[in-house]
Amino acid sequence: MSEVSLLVHDLEAALSPKGAGPLRGRDLGELAVHAPASVAISGERITAVGPPPEVLRELSTNSDYETVDGRGKVAIPGLVDCHTHAAFLGDRATEFELRSRGASYEELHASGGGILSTVSATRAGSEEELRSAVQRHLGWMLEHGTLTAEAKSGYGLDGETELKSLRAIRDAAEGHPVDVYPTFLGAHTVPPEFPGAAEYVEFVIREVLPEAARLAQAADVFVERGSFEVPEARAYLDACARHGLALRLHADQFSERGAIPLAIELGARSVDHLENTSEDGARLLAKSDVAAVLLPACGLFLDLPLPPARLLVEEDAIVALATDLNPGSSFCESLPLVMNLACTRLKLSPAEALSACTANAAHVLGLGDVGRLAPGYRADVLLLDAPDWRYLAYHLGGDRFAARIKSGRALT
Ligand code: NIG
Ligand code: FE
Repeated sequence: MSEVSLLVHDLEAALSPKGAGPLRGRDLGELAVHAPASVAISGERITAVGPPPEVLRELSTNSDYETVDGRGKVAIPGLVDCHTHAAFLGDRATEFELRSRGASYEELHASGGGILSTVSATRAGSEEELRSAVQRHLGWMLEHGTLTAEAKSGYGLDGETELKSLRAIRDAAEGHPVDVYPTFLGAHTVPPEFPGAAEYVEFVIREVLPEAARLAQAADVFVERGSFEVPEARAYLDACARHGLALRLHADQFSERGAIPLAIELGARSVDHLENTSEDGARLLAKSDVAAVLLPACGLFLDLPLPPARLLVEEDAIVALATDLNPGSSFCESLPLVMNLACTRLKLSPAEALSACTANAAHVLGLGDVGRLAPGYRADVLLLDAPDWRYLAYHLGGDRFAARIKSGRALT
């Protein structure tokens, strides 16, 4: 018998990734399906999921709880976006148009545009402007069912603006329904005032990291020609690990240059992108505990090669999905859209796509109690207004939610 604060009753079905912890390889597609189902919630936690009469029997008779009518609806876990660059000002609409006429992302970056143009806009704005921008971006994510998100800095690249970005993320998250996990992307690219990557990384470690480590939970680096090579990335990540941060890497987006072996050597949480990862690289990664975060909206936006998604799954990797929301390479906040691309372009099944942006994305953020509909998990629940849960991936841009429940509270 348990005290219940919210009962979602008589759902057509409730679906959840199976098991506990990260799902490796083909386990990604294993869903626990209860049909019909009710979900009982006590405070911020799920207490029971299963056939309606069984869940009812679990409830103490005198508890005073709210109800949500689940008839005709399907419940899934709240979505988790484990890779976003939500802290930016300005836009790159002009570059988008230039790219439509044939300019390449890397050419724009090399000529001082790209990431650096967003750095200028972000440096020029106030902390308050940045806080409201992050809040606006979190609002967009929430509309598409994201209830937990990562948000990176990385458009400051000086002490003041990197710390301003991390504080803006923290303050935007306060009181916002989306739970936010900040990442210090101090090594996004080399700002123009430094002669080279080594000098910049030395500066970041000395001047920015000590305070950034108090505001962030993870660190990230862009390993790529024109940004950071493995030696500088290693120095940066080593120092970040010594400050207690979990490690992430932007890896193999345009070229394969050793990010995967480095991530494995350092025990990183994830390598993200992998559009140019070789078969050997994918096999090496799949045997490790480093998660592969695939970002198919970025691949579409920049017309990149496809990452070896199927090979990673078949070889037993921990595969997650995310939006990579940012103004330059993936101006997209919708995980349902990402799920569609994962199915149509990366050949994941809808079930694999769902687990990749719930349970496995939560694992990338270090969260063991998010991303499943199971007793003890955080009560983050989406009710789909669709006759079949696969509409979430299938209906391109048409995700419809009848309700969003965050930490046991139905949002209006
Ligand atoms: O994940 N590749 C590096 N960083 C981002 C893009 C940032 C930008 O273009 O503003 C990414 O694609
Ligand atoms: Fe990114």
